[in-house]
Amino acid sequence: MNTIEKYKKYVNISMVEKVQPVVIERANGAIITDIEGKNYIDCFSGIAVTNAGHSNEKVVEAAKAQMEKLVHCCSYAYYSQPTADLAEKLAQVTPGRLQKTFFTNSGAEAIEGALRLAKQFTGKSEFIGLQASFHGRSYATLSVTGNNARKRRGGPYMVGCTFLPAPYCYRCFFELEYPNCHLRCARALEDIIRFNTYDNVAAFIAEPLLGEGGIITPPEDYFLEIEKISKKHEILFVVDEVQTGFCRTGKMFGIEHYGVEPDIMAMAKGIADGFPLGGFIAGEEVADSFRPGDHLSTFGGNPVSCAAAIANIEFMLETNLAEQALRKGEFLRGELDRLAKRYKLIGEIRGKGLMIGMELVRDSQKTPANTEGDKIRDICLELGLLPGLGGIYGNVLRIQPPLVISQDEMKEVIKIVDLAFSKI
Ligand SMILES: Cc1ncc(COP(=O)(O)O)c(C=O)c1O
Repeated sequence: MNTIEKYKKYVNISMVEKVQPVVIERANGAIITDIEGKNYIDCFSGIAVTNAGHSNEKVVEAAKAQMEKLVHCCSYAYYSQPTADLAEKLAQVTPGRLQKTFFTNSGAEAIEGALRLAKQFTGKSEFIGLQASFHGRSYATLSVTGNNARKRRGGPYMVGCTFLPAPYCYRCFFELEYPNCHLRCARALEDIIRFNTYDNVAAFIAEPLLGEGGIITPPEDYFLEIEKISKKHEILFVVDEVQTGFCRTGKMFGIEHYGVEPDIMAMAKGIADGFPLGGFIAGEEVADSFRPGDHLSTFGGNPVSCAAAIANIEFMLETNLAEQALRKGEFLRGELDRLAKRYKLIGEIRGKGLMIGMELVRDSQKTPANTEGDKIRDICLELGLLPGLGGIYGNVLRIQPPLVISQDEMKEVIKIVDLAFSKI
């Protein structure tokens, strides 16, 4: 049996529409190579993970060196050096007073823990999330996820979760236009608190850009308005940086674009360039509201993943990767905007840094062009490019390459995307 046949027989893939028909053998930088030796430009980074490039030498070396010394000890039962060093580094690179990290293995676990901590600190138990958001596949994270395509057949969910219309300007819930809307979607938070809760809200949770929702990019002053209302009601702000963190959007963390300070930040994906790790960080006062017995993880803060993460963050700082992502993103968005003028199927190009969404629509009513998106992705694959496809209607092509992608590779991306649209 070959790999694909073994997947069909032994790997539970019944929950995905399809696995892309590429058997990957190796990857380096922004290039993925399959078992036949065919190269692809990676524009999805294993879902926004390998920000510092596949098989980043510095990261791999750090992980190897740590593996020779210690693979596991449980970083909450004993002291582990890489865990401590990474926590110190995160306190330095995260904004505001965020200081103490709890380490997990994944994004969902990081959000779960962040929600638990928000309850613990505030003594309150309700949450407000965003429509079109995504926060993970566990019970609490699905409860605050605003998308029934992810929640279907999994309910009933946690009580006390309610949702605010997304800051999705292209499909504004209120049918208004920015800036004349005066941020109606953010101001609705006041109504949601008043009418949809019993005034016991622990936290508001949001992604700085809604990744799985379709790279929905809130207006610049959106989170300032949210912060104002949240502070008034003594509601914490939990920011989900799982997808936007670690230079992806052109800043170390996506929320830095908006000039607000989160109370708790959850992270994962890009933290260790592919080694499994997540975490949530809070200021000392909030973090210390956990009491003995309140939380733990066997693998969280694994020494190998932490050593990889330290090297990863050092690489990001040394190479000014956030600035690179910003510059490269501007170039790619500029080129994609040019294509949008030629191909009617492209409704909008949006995003920040190298987190770019191309929303595809059939007509001026903005009918989602999801089957066309699927076709474009298949053609791109044939031509040696691997973009993502997502969004609440499944019609957003996602361009999220490793941030080390070269100028020549970006030009090739544009050439292939152009050709793919010309063939449909
Ligand atoms: C914003 C966001 N939060 C949470 C998660 C869940 O992360 P994980 O798959 O590591 O559990 C994801 C995954 O795509 C995500 O994009």
